[in-house]
Amino acid sequence: MAELRLQNLGKRFGDHAAVEAVELTVADGEFLALLGPSGCGKTTLLRLIAGFEEPDAGSISIAGREVARPGRQLPPEERRVGLVFQSYALWPHMSVAENVAYPLKVAGLPRAELVRRRDAALATTGLEGFAGRRPADLSGGQRQRVALARCLVMEPPLVLLDEPLANLDVHLRAAMQEEFAGFHDKTGATMVYITHDQAEAMALADRIAVMHQGRLQQVAAPRALYNEPATAMVAGFIGEGSLVEAELLGFEADGRAAVTLWDRRVRLRARPGQAPGPVVASLRPEQLSLTAPDGPDVLPARVRRAVYRGGRVALDLVPEAAPEASLLLLEPEATAPGPGERVGIAIGGGWVIPE
Ligand SMILES: Nc1ncnc2c1ncn2[C@@H]1O[C@H](COP(=O)(O)OP(=O)(O)O)[C@@H](O)[C@H]1O
Ligand SMILES: [Mg+2]
Repeated sequence: MAELRLQNLGKRFGDHAAVEAVELTVADGEFLALLGPSGCGKTTLLRLIAGFEEPDAGSISIAGREVARPGRQLPPEERRVGLVFQSYALWPHMSVAENVAYPLKVAGLPRAELVRRRDAALATTGLEGFAGRRPADLSGGQRQRVALARCLVMEPPLVLLDEPLANLDVHLRAAMQEEFAGFHDKTGATMVYITHDQAEAMALADRIAVMHQGRLQQVAAPRALYNEPATAMVAGFIGEGSLVEAELLGFEADGRAAVTLWDRRVRLRARPGQAPGPVVASLRPEQLSLTAPDGPDVLPARVRRAVYRGGRVALDLVPEAAPEASLLLLEPEATAPGPGERVGIAIGGGWVIPE
């Protein structure tokens, strides 16, 4: 059983802050995805948790026990953390069964216990039929499963995975995502899963932590992240849509925010208590719909680009009141206007970014 707790965690390389002021608690048994663009500090954060880097600020606790703070480090092998990376690092001269059993052998387990745990790990990862093969005779997905089984065999209460599917093709990734979800259900381990793929994070995680330039931007369930992004970075990074400058006037009796957007009054959602004034709002494509150009409360616009997406067309719309702005709307193929056409946009919702 392992809760993971990071408090004010920081790590610098020279004058570059790779991880800064990270506060995060991952509950026992939770599946947390750590999501962010390349270079934002994900791997460094994971290496800090595993014990391969020493923090220069803050602390790390696993299962209520402090394992790291500046100047005091518990070595990796004493943290009971399982690791899975994208490079499988399997022993090429050993069979699948030998690879999986290797950590148990090193730990000096009695033979009967070793066989029991090895076979259980092979079964959990669907590798029973491949026990005698060498890694060279396996597909990429099978090799990744061996790496997973080798981690699982130690029954670690905390498992860290660093982009484990990044080397696999799209179909295999979908299948392996299911395996990771199944692995999590069966073991009940606390999991921190690094990815730069938001679809993967959404499919797998209880909560997603979005990281940017070494800092956590938001930690929330996938739906909350999409519908109520805490920052413009999160709104832009998760899903599609548009960010627009607007003016928050105040809240109406039903809790909706009254907002002025290019001289039109629209009603959006906002965090209660947010002060009136200039704001940035996130408008998702499904919150916009096409209508006649000149109705009341309608935003007249022109189609700048129409990109076919298979069944639907992505429309890049330029409001007449704001030629520098751009709104994304997805319209079924049959009713989609073409480039240059004049349309009306009805705004059915949106979210005021709180910061
Ligand atoms: N050992 C190191 N020495 C110097 N800079 C490093 C080292 N490891 C990582 N960095 C830098 O820290 C930043 C975060 O890297 P990393 O944690 O690998 O990001 P991510 O995994 O999100 O792509 C990057 O700018 C990277 O160049
Ligand atoms: Mg990385």
